[in-house]
Amino acid sequence: MMYRVAVIPGDGIGHEVIPAAIRVLEAAGQRGGFQFEWEYLPWGSEHYFEHGRMMPADALDRLRPFDVIFFGAVGDPRIQDNVTLNGLLLPIRRGFDQYACVRPAVLYPGVRCPLAGRQPGEIDFTVVRENTEGEYAQIGGLLYPDGPHEVAMQAAMFTRHGTERVIRFAFDLARRRNAKRLVTSVTKSNAQGFSMGFWDRVFTEVAREFPDIRTESLLVDAACMDLVRRPQDFDVIVASNLFGDILTDLSAAITGSLGLAPSANLNPTRTFPSMFEPVHGSAPDIVGRGIANPMATMLAGAMMLDFLEQPTAAQAIESAVRHVLASQSALTPDLGGTGTTETVTAAVLDQLNKDQKVYAGKGAK
Ligand code: NAD
Ligand code: IPM
Ligand code: MN
Repeated sequence: MMYRVAVIPGDGIGHEVIPAAIRVLEAAGQRGGFQFEWEYLPWGSEHYFEHGRMMPADALDRLRPFDVIFFGAVGDPRIQDNVTLNGLLLPIRRGFDQYACVRPAVLYPGVRCPLAGRQPGEIDFTVVRENTEGEYAQIGGLLYPDGPHEVAMQAAMFTRHGTERVIRFAFDLARRRNAKRLVTSVTKSNAQGFSMGFWDRVFTEVAREFPDIRTESLLVDAACMDLVRRPQDFDVIVASNLFGDILTDLSAAITGSLGLAPSANLNPTRTFPSMFEPVHGSAPDIVGRGIANPMATMLAGAMMLDFLEQPTAAQAIESAVRHVLASQSALTPDLGGTGTTETVTAAVLDQLNKDQKVYAGKGAK
């Protein structure tokens, strides 16, 4: 089996974590009897400086034939963020209708939780973020720019189609996880009665299709408080594009580090390629120092393998990362260690190879 992967390292530490994760994916492929064909696409801020755009005009056409997209990060301090993000990452999410953004938050053994008293394994939930519309719909404009009467307007767009399908995805996921069998919907319908009141209504309607799943609705401010106060209670959280974005930096922080948080931008109908990336950005403050934590990208790689229907290889990566964290043998500074991208990658590869020997031994008996 051969998978065709479009690789977009993007900017900053994207160029450090993507190669590290690819080494781990290659090792998982060797052990699982499948291969990758990686095609590197040099799109990002350097491309912008050279060609005046973040990616070529026909970028989506070029990406369409790939099985999946593996993405690093985008963002450069020299260019306005809305130019870089709206020139590369967001058009791919929207253009390929990757409507379900899945972001697991797991407190692994060996990782220090900033919340007092939380034990490893206690925090284990997934945020499903609407990924194609909502507050990111790119509808708006400026009137009388730069003048004293300047007007800025940015609309949030919620469609029945878009809201129903992402909520339904969250319920399906709660069934598949078969953990607490709970979906928490997060809105702000007390202030934004039209859009968020609509979301609440659709949530109640869709919930009726899943009588075996419990439900809960929280306002986003209270949800932030509860993620700190009682993170152990959550199972699947479903939220709009912006709220999902904010909640997933918070969920990354309470599970130890942004450097551990993976993300899958899924087109569940498989009409277009899905895209896998870490939750974090280009981290200009640590770029070039060799200390970026590659584990979020490795775990995103594991999610990619799951999507490609290689669950054993996906679990092998997750378990190797889990083992390295638990042993604390190689941790980058974001996790309180003195390790580097290289030492962490070597430790994960080493663990993958060890596991492989154990499996080979078992098979021989
Ligand atoms: P960031 O995620 O890049 O960094 C936030 C903090 O977390 C920084 O201190 C950084 O050093 C640390 N950090 C992030 N990833 C890490 C890793 N793997 N290992 C160790 N430490 C890590 O967010 P920011 O600083 O707000 O944004 C920087 C740029 O990235 C901006 O241009 C922003 O727009 C962009 N951004 C892009 C994405 C994306 O591509 N998906 C996501 C978030 C931010
Ligand atoms: C993320 C990022 C992006 C988002 C930004 C960089 C546009 O923060 O993937 O979480 O908000 O989706
Ligand atoms: Mn974010």
